[in-house]
Amino acid sequence: MNPLADRTQYLDSSGIRKVFELGAKLTDPIDMSIGQPHFDVPAEVRQAAIEAIQSGKNGYSLTQGIPLLRQKLQERIQRQYGHDDREVLVTCGTSGGLVLALLVLVNPGDEVIVFDPYFVMYDSLSAVVGGRVVYVDTYPQFRIDAERVEKAITPRTKAIIFNSPGNPTGVVAGEEEVRALAELAARRGVVLISDEVYSSFCYGRQFVSPARFNPDTLVLDGFSKTYGMPGWRLGFAHGPRTIIQQMIKFQQYSFVCAPHPLQWAAATALDVDASGYVADYWRKRDMVLEALAEHYEVVTPEGAFYIFPKAPWGTASEFVARAIEEQQLLVIPGKVFSRRDTHFRISYAADERTLLRGIEALRKLARQ
Ligand SMILES: Cc1ncc(COP(=O)(O)O)c(C=O)c1O
Repeated sequence: MNPLADRTQYLDSSGIRKVFELGAKLTDPIDMSIGQPHFDVPAEVRQAAIEAIQSGKNGYSLTQGIPLLRQKLQERIQRQYGHDDREVLVTCGTSGGLVLALLVLVNPGDEVIVFDPYFVMYDSLSAVVGGRVVYVDTYPQFRIDAERVEKAITPRTKAIIFNSPGNPTGVVAGEEEVRALAELAARRGVVLISDEVYSSFCYGRQFVSPARFNPDTLVLDGFSKTYGMPGWRLGFAHGPRTIIQQMIKFQQYSFVCAPHPLQWAAATALDVDASGYVADYWRKRDMVLEALAEHYEVVTPEGAFYIFPKAPWGTASEFVARAIEEQQLLVIPGKVFSRRDTHFRISYAADERTLLRGIEALRKLARQ
């Protein structure tokens, strides 16, 4: 007898695993596959975590987060949006917020609109909670076309998951695009979930949240990328009180609370100026993009730390297999994030040496 529930089949980690398995055999790989910052947590934030642990802040915290952190977040969110009905909840990473959001919003059979390409959890987790995923293709420019979204809306549409700056494309949605999507969701009574985990990494284009135009937007955000702490599992969600209250209830019955001592450190992190990291990635984005522009078809990424070029030959999976075998270069084939297998994701969250080696390898591969 198969002991496993049917929902286990909705998570397919084989694409990324394959890259890691191939990479594990290499002696000195050029790793441009990583979806996390290469810098460490700022020293004063690490110190705050140590002090929180030493001073015994190791029990459960309030489910919704420690008051200090919540208050700091709430004040910032209030300044940004000024919505009367916007509450905040501290979550176990942005991912934890996503799980809670889908649990409280999606009934079996409800449709969830996901833009293709997408962050891997969106379609899988929507399916796990019984949702039917409706993909809206955004190739080749990775822009959101509200008319196209409207055509995909049916009486069963419950939510739209939006992500800017985007993983894997690095594309930052413009104000008109965001406004059109936000107003469409409001008009059609669909919940807009906005994943803003990369919002601090924008290069020359201003980040715009749909919450500016649609006060019912549920925002998912996190500390992982901004402060180099993905292993700390800290995030936050904010949105209409009715939704946040239910998410708190589900957190109480699942994660219980976000890591307590690290919440104290996150409160310190909110006062840290992260602009140096952003400037570093901006420079790295320019360096890699300029080096690849004449060899690859690529949409200029204006945020996050990814570039999503088109494979110059073959499918993206074939291209990535050869990149690993011949150049020891680890990148991720687009089909991990998409129903297409035409593009591949490069992460430039890496040190200078890795980027220089990666550029050289990518130039050689393009010439084949
Ligand atoms: C778009 C997007 N959302 C959410 C996450 C998860 O972030 P967290 O570490 O805050 O759970 C990631 C991580 O790669 C991501 O790329």
